Amino acid sequence: MENKPDLIIYNIGQLLTIRGTTQKPKVLRQMDDLGIIEDGAVAVKDGKFIHVSNTIEIRKRYEFGAIKTFDASGKAAMPGFVDCHTHSLFGGNRAAEFVERIQGATYLEILRKGGGILSTVNNTRKLSTEELTEITQKHLDSMLLHGTTTVEIKSGYGLDLMNEIKILKSIRELQKTHCLDIVPTFLGAHAIPVEYKHDPDAYVDLVCDMLPFAKEYAVFCDVFCDEGAFNAKQTEKIFHTARNLGFQLKLHSNEFKDIGGIPLAIKYEAVSIEHLDHVTPKEISQLSGSKAICVLLPGIPLFLMKDTYAPAKEMLEKGLAIALATDFNPGTCPCLNMQIMITLGSLKMSMTPAQAINAATINAAHALSMAHRVGSIEEGKQADMIILDINDYRQLSYYFGVNHVQTVIKNGRLVVDNKVLVK
Ligand code: NIG
Ligand code: FE
Repeated sequence: MENKPDLIIYNIGQLLTIRGTTQKPKVLRQMDDLGIIEDGAVAVKDGKFIHVSNTIEIRKRYEFGAIKTFDASGKAAMPGFVDCHTHSLFGGNRAAEFVERIQGATYLEILRKGGGILSTVNNTRKLSTEELTEITQKHLDSMLLHGTTTVEIKSGYGLDLMNEIKILKSIRELQKTHCLDIVPTFLGAHAIPVEYKHDPDAYVDLVCDMLPFAKEYAVFCDVFCDEGAFNAKQTEKIFHTARNLGFQLKLHSNEFKDIGGIPLAIKYEAVSIEHLDHVTPKEISQLSGSKAICVLLPGIPLFLMKDTYAPAKEMLEKGLAIALATDFNPGTCPCLNMQIMITLGSLKMSMTPAQAINAATINAAHALSMAHRVGSIEEGKQADMIILDINDYRQLSYYFGVNHVQTVIKNGRLVVDNKVLVK
């Protein structure tokens, strides 16, 4: 048999291919289309999809007896989630602060008192590369069990050269040892460390000095441009230096306030602009003329007990490219489950399940410049696929709070079997 596959998955009740937008992100009506094939089937070889069709076609083409097969009758299947914005590498946790917030303290008040990100920085600085790798590996395993097959991880809990590089080295180690695809981002400009409290501009200079070292490990450079973090002028200095070094750019913007990050990100052609809970109508118009992907993170307002979510519906209507991610981190969203973000996209931002699923897969892949490899089930792409214990994709948003991912195929290999990691 010519080009014999290594694996065939067939009888898929509802196959969401999410196909057709590898060159550009999905916008407008494309967001309603999941490229569904009823009774779908895929053939996989050398870690890639070589044939995506229905069961009848795949049966005609290949001799099933000679090939490893997987019967997915009555199930929905789709590409693995792409979690395009996380801060997954950190020491300790902030459960005590969580209780303080429930009792009335705000996130920014806690940060100003030296808590928040800074307390995680203290805990992360104490740990070795090996210890951080071990902790993060558990998070990555959990992500895989919940269907995430590609993840971005930002540094940013080191805030000095030695500790930022330690974090990036740990990410590098995980890239070698874990089956998830990991995209590293340098976020030295995550907070002003205590040592520079009285001279933030000097810390911005230090971040610029760290950039050439970080470039050996990271694909993207990100800045937290917001109230309590870095202002637009400081952000521009970092962007300017990073761009000259060949980094692709990302920006945390409008999470708490509009302080001028968006025009800057557009000017520097950032690949993505993230958070955007406090985006203004004027900025939405500016964004509609740009190529930047808007990465929305609905876990944050939920966890910070706020009412202001990014206006996804208006943004979609204006033709903006929207992605969804968890922002998994110990302070503003300790949830790494993309299925919950899809539900929140629907309940809190009025995205339909189809829009939310497109945002959590192909558009998230575009936000990582990875859409040529992941984010959809198409011939030539990596065989990253999840099989769900539901027969209709809408149930993914609807039956929320439980893990619907039953099987995960990563690069053509079975890595989660019946909700258990295959080691
Ligand atoms: O995306 N915005 C900045 N960073 C994280 C919060 C990190 C933390 O609180 O530890 C965020 O919300
Ligand atoms: Fe973030």
